[in-house]
Amino acid sequence: MYILPWVLSLVAVSSAAPTNFFDDAYDFSEELLGYYSKVSQKINQIRHTEASAVQCDTSKISLPSYASSLPSPTGLSPLYVGLGRGTQNYTCADSTSSSTPTAIGAVANLYNTTCLAANYPEVLEMLPTIAYKIAIPTTEYATFPPANLELMGHHFFYNSTTPEFNLDTTTEKQYGIAMTNKIDTIDAPSSATEGQYGAVSWLYLKAVSGTVGKYKAVYRVDTASGSPPTTCKGMESSFEIQYAALYYFYG
Ligand SMILES: *[C@@H]1O[C@H](CO)[C@@H](O)[C@H](O)[C@H]1NC(C)=O
Ligand SMILES: *[C@@H]1O[C@H](CO)[C@@H](O)[C@H](O)[C@H]1NC(C)=O
Ligand SMILES: *[C@@H]1O[C@H](CO)[C@@H](O)[C@H](O)[C@H]1NC(C)=O
Repeated sequence: MYILPWVLSLVAVSSAAPTNFFDDAYDFSEELLGYYSKVSQKINQIRHTEASAVQCDTSKISLPSYASSLPSPTGLSPLYVGLGRGTQNYTCADSTSSSTPTAIGAVANLYNTTCLAANYPEVLEMLPTIAYKIAIPTTEYATFPPANLELMGHHFFYNSTTPEFNLDTTTEKQYGIAMTNKIDTIDAPSSATEGQYGAVSWLYLKAVSGTVGKYKAVYRVDTASGSPPTTCKGMESSFEIQYAALYYFYG
């Protein structure tokens, strides 16, 4: 019987003590309990499933229903889904309540959750909530807990208006570059994990010139944390807010 590697890694993780695993950065919370219980249900289901039913069929990938308020990816096909884990960066002109933080970009690692998106979207959508509190591995190419997700690329701002997704990681893994523009945005749903100051919005990004590969659109959904405080009161001149989100790549 065939079991996807991520499932095996989850089995390993589930039997380990979570406190070691998360370096005490994370209390063993309700979300985590819910996540592990869903994951173990899935593992049990998979153990009773034939190989053919556990493929990584990207045509089965669809955006969460709340994303329907964004322009739909009509005519496009899902290519990859990645968990983004990093920081949203902001600046403040001064540290008073009369100024407001300015977003200056984001820096994140992207981890490959494509097969999870194709097979277990309800498990996938719980990941950002857990992930935003887990430190990014300091070793380049290290996998990301809690599911030993493989590094799929890097997200950063090419310039102030151009979010870039570079999916060329190793010499073997050359998956291209999506250069994008923000076209539309909706507030994260009320159910989003807010962190300290709220979850960043969901986005529809369109590929622009400079893109390498089939990428036509990128969606940022299922955001957790990342928003700044409403004013600069008591803030440094530049600061970072931890966040996690799912990025859906279409082409
Ligand atoms: C954003 O913050 C990260 C640290 O998380 C830092 O590495 C990066 O240089 C910052 N980027 C900008 C544009 O300030
Ligand atoms: C993501 O993982 C799937 C399944 O292993 C693989 O087919 C795909 O090429 C990976 N995508 C990237 C961008 O690494
Ligand atoms: C950012 O880069 C894009 C792509 O090269 C370019 O079209 C745009 O003019 C640049 N914008 C700024 C503010 O530099």
